[in-house]
Amino acid sequence: MINASTGSQYAGILGIGSYRPRRVVPNAEILEQIDSSDEWIQTRSGIKERRWASDDETVLMMSVNAAKDALQESGIDPAEIGAVVVATVTHLYQTPAIATRVAVEVGAPTAAAFDISAACAGFCYGVAMANDLVRGGSAKYVLAIGVERLSDITDRTDRGTAFIFADGAGAAIVGPTDEPGIGPVVWGSDGTQHQVISQTESWPEAVADSKWPHLAMDGNPVFRWASFAMAKAAQQALDVAGVKAEQLDLFVPHQANMRITDAMRRTLKLPEHVKVARDIERQGNTSAASIPLAITAMREAGEAKSGDLALIIGFGAGLVYAALVIRLP
Ligand code: UT7
Repeated sequence: MINASTGSQYAGILGIGSYRPRRVVPNAEILEQIDSSDEWIQTRSGIKERRWASDDETVLMMSVNAAKDALQESGIDPAEIGAVVVATVTHLYQTPAIATRVAVEVGAPTAAAFDISAACAGFCYGVAMANDLVRGGSAKYVLAIGVERLSDITDRTDRGTAFIFADGAGAAIVGPTDEPGIGPVVWGSDGTQHQVISQTESWPEAVADSKWPHLAMDGNPVFRWASFAMAKAAQQALDVAGVKAEQLDLFVPHQANMRITDAMRRTLKLPEHVKVARDIERQGNTSAASIPLAITAMREAGEAKSGDLALIIGFGAGLVYAALVIRLP
C-alpha cells in the first residue's frame, strides 16, 4: 500500500502580474519591411501597435517581473511555492528549463521547475496544471507563467506574420482556496494541423543552412479554426463549470486577432455587460503571455475587478487549445 498525495479540495488564482516591454512598435515601423498598409493591418487583425523587447528584456527578466507582481498581490511567501511552470516557445535553449532560473530569482530556489510548450494555449495549460498540482497535493502554491519574445523568431519581411507577433510576460499564483476558483479545463489538440503554425526549420537544419529559423503561419486556416471550433470549446468550459454566459463578467480569449475575438463573442452570445479583452490593439499577439497581459490591462482600465468571473481560452500552434472559467484575485 502506498500513501496517496492529498491536496486542497479547491484551488484558485491568488495573484496575477504582467510585464510589457518598454518599446512600442507602431504599424508604420512594420511597414518599412513589408508590402502592406496601416489600414489592412488594423482592419484584418485589430492591431495598431505592439511591444517588442529590448536586449535587457529577456525571457527571464520579463518572467521574473511578472512573477513578482503576481506574488505581491497573492501575499504568499515565495518559499512556499512548490512548483514553477513556464509556458513559452521562445526560450531558445533546448535545456535547461528557464523555470529553474525563474524559481531562483523569485525566491523559490528548491521548487519543482519545468517549461511547457503549448504555444498560445500555454498560460491556460499552465493554470490548468497548477490547479491539479494544488488539488492533488503535489505543491501548495504554483507559479504559472506565460512569456514570449516572439520578435526573436519573427521574419520581419514576412507579410503574413511580421505585423502580428509581439513580446511580453504574464504570471499567476495558484493556491488553495475555500471555494472553487478555477473551473474544469476543456483542452485538446489536433496534430493533423501541426504545419499551419510552425518553426520553418529545425535548429540542425538551420545551422547547416546558416539560416535563422522563423515562425511561419498559414493564417487563414488558423483563423477559421479559431473562429468556429474555439467558440465551441469556450462554451464547453462554461458548461462544465456550471456557469451561464449571463453570470460572466469578462471574456478574455487569447489575443490572436480582433476578428476572432468578435466571432467568438457572437457565437457565444455573450450579453452586453460581459467585458471583452481587446489588448491586441496595443499589444499585438504575445502567444502564451496574451491572456494575463489582457487581464492586467483590463484591471488597469477599471474594466475588471477582484472577484470577477472570467472565461479564458488559449489556442494556437500544435494545434492546441485550453479553456477555463476563473475567478479573478
Ligand atoms: O496566435 C496563434 C494563433 N494565430 C492566429 O489565431 C492567427 C490567425 N490568423 C489571422 O489572424 C489572419 O489569418 C491574418 C490576420 C494573419 C490574415 O488575415 P486573413 O483575413 O486570413 O487574410 P488572408 O491570409 O486570407 O489574405 C487575404 C488577402 C490576400 O490577398 P488576395 O489573395 O485576397 O488578393 C493576401 O495576399 O490579403 C493579402 N495579405 C495582405 N495584404 C496586405 C496577406 N497579408 C497581407 C498584409 N498586408 N500583411
